[in-house]
Amino acid sequence: MNVSSVPSANIESLSQESRVFPAPAEFSSASRVKTMTQYRRLWSASVNEPERFWKQMAEQHLHWFTPFKTVLQWKVPDAKWFGGGKLNVSSNCLDKWLGTATANKAALIWEGEPASDGRPGEERVLTFQQLHREVCRFANVLKRHGVEKGDRVILYLPMIPEAAIAMLACTRIGAIHSVVFGGFSAQSVADRIADCGAKLVVTADGGYRRGSVVPLKKNVDEALTIVGADGERLAKSIEKVVVVRRTGNEVHITEGRDVWWHRELEYVEDQCAPAKMDSESPLFILYTSGSTGKPKGILHTTAGYLLGAKLTHQYIFDVQDHDVYWCTADIGWVTGHSYVVYGPLANGTTSLMYEGAPNWPEPDRFWRIIAKYRVTILYTAPTAIRAFMKWGDEWPKKHPLGSLRLLGTVGEPINPEAWMWYYQVVGGGRCPIVDTWWQTETGAIMISPLPGATPTKPGSATLPFFGIRPEVVDDQGNPVPKGSGGKLIIRQPWPSMLRGLWGDPKRFKETYWSEVKGAYFTGDGCRQDKDGYFWIVGRIDDVLNVAGHRIGTAEVESALVSHPSVAEAAVVGRPDPLKGQALVCFVILKTGAKASPSLRDELRAHVGKEIGPVAKPDDIRFADGLPKTRSGKIMRRLLKQIASGAEIKGDTTTLEDLSVLAKLTAAEE
Ligand code: PRX
Repeated sequence: MNVSSVPSANIESLSQESRVFPAPAEFSSASRVKTMTQYRRLWSASVNEPERFWKQMAEQHLHWFTPFKTVLQWKVPDAKWFGGGKLNVSSNCLDKWLGTATANKAALIWEGEPASDGRPGEERVLTFQQLHREVCRFANVLKRHGVEKGDRVILYLPMIPEAAIAMLACTRIGAIHSVVFGGFSAQSVADRIADCGAKLVVTADGGYRRGSVVPLKKNVDEALTIVGADGERLAKSIEKVVVVRRTGNEVHITEGRDVWWHRELEYVEDQCAPAKMDSESPLFILYTSGSTGKPKGILHTTAGYLLGAKLTHQYIFDVQDHDVYWCTADIGWVTGHSYVVYGPLANGTTSLMYEGAPNWPEPDRFWRIIAKYRVTILYTAPTAIRAFMKWGDEWPKKHPLGSLRLLGTVGEPINPEAWMWYYQVVGGGRCPIVDTWWQTETGAIMISPLPGATPTKPGSATLPFFGIRPEVVDDQGNPVPKGSGGKLIIRQPWPSMLRGLWGDPKRFKETYWSEVKGAYFTGDGCRQDKDGYFWIVGRIDDVLNVAGHRIGTAEVESALVSHPSVAEAAVVGRPDPLKGQALVCFVILKTGAKASPSLRDELRAHVGKEIGPVAKPDDIRFADGLPKTRSGKIMRRLLKQIASGAEIKGDTTTLEDLSVLAKLTAAEE
């Protein structure tokens, strides 16, 4: 892979950035890690003697029913952390606080989407004790319907407290949850059910999104009828569907299969003993895009994941007891798992959850919420920040944002311009920014400033977290000199790392552990500067990052070719000022099909139906052929250049048919 050809909207300004912002003194004085000397000492100790470090952390931060006997058993690529230990995630997040001053503190503050007529959104607050009760009740509902340890449960829900309750209820009884983002289609739900063999689905009648209702239950009904290539229903393993009443829209209830959440609660007790789970018991599966047409089921396990989420949340956001912490991610993504639910609750932090969009009914939605609840920590995505910038300073300026003390970003490289805007307009020049690099696979933040210690540079995720050893290497796996680009790898195992891909150990090994011997390959390109700071430049595999959503080009290609008019398709990214990357699709039609604006719309809608609205192409270009090498490989590098309107550079002599290139360039007009 040639890292120098990585497409990114941000590389140019990233490589020219030289500003440095020291950690503010008033922040440092109260923070856990106060100086770089302290950070470097702790980090060196943690990576030089990782087992000693993680043992101490696991003893100190987790509540164990049975203490672990071994820290790490490691044979590439299989890690077993904290062998012999028994614990429960929900009791580490909830029971731990009962009988303490935290029991009656808000665990979740939920703000619903405002009504389209301007009526304010509903609000609900659940204290740790109340959340504990609701989790126990729903855990009993799951049990009543035959869900047992190790069973898979699909959660297809809007951003409502029931989503967090259902996740925690699964962990309470040792069931494995797999959250499917509400923006995915019926087909995606069916594929995920088929892959993990889930027994039960939890959904809602609908979810609100910019004033309209997303028909989640209807999508589930459809998912349960979809037939696979073998002629069997993809979702045949599903026995029950539990439906939360959220929007009140009419839904079809299939007797014997579908039950209402609120009715079920009438039959159950509000106590449920937590299951004593092994450290390595599967905790959740989260599907994410890779470089093939089939999403991968990333598997996380109990103790290591929880330790990673808790520790990083505590140190990187430097949470204090009084904080009102808001991570704007949807629970359908890993950020919602680690930093809306598990990390904050395990730390006894008040976590705010918002149901709707940032610009509904007006572009000041976030700033209103921050002012209303006096939010102290805001964690959001660069794509949202760029949208806010575009909407104008007047929206944040209308609201008092003085409660904020720390800002965070995640999901894609942040361009220095957006970083500066976030710092000045939102943070008032007072709040440190933690640019946090990590992935669904890593479970928890890997590279990030510590806000009381690390001087920040706009666009850099800065330095590794304790116990983490990232490196930038060349194609042979050798470290590259400072300042040069290379592949980002992680040298040592860490507790919250993925333990595999559900049902596909071969792909697990090939994707992550074959690129550089003995190390984890992230799929990202990176550069380290003279101070050792890491500058992530984006994916170097066939995965795109569109508005912070990870989308595999192969997935979109296979959705396109499943349309009767399409013979062949190639999908690439082009830099986009708002979304980071935009999806550009080159489509070759079958003989007889005619290129037209209506077919273009139809194909966009088709991809939306196959994968979900998040994957709808930004640009579809009809072409007569695709540039290929003599061995038949599509020349993506050229397509990327065409898509971004760049002058064609590099070697094109291996092109099968040079005239194709001329036609593709012309296809832009
Ligand atoms: O390319 C990196 C980018 O997002 C990818 C991981 O995507 P996903 O698994 O969906 O998880 C997103 C939330 C953790 C990475 O491989 N990425 C994530 N955070 C950053 C980033 N790129 C640059 N800077 C970041 N802070």
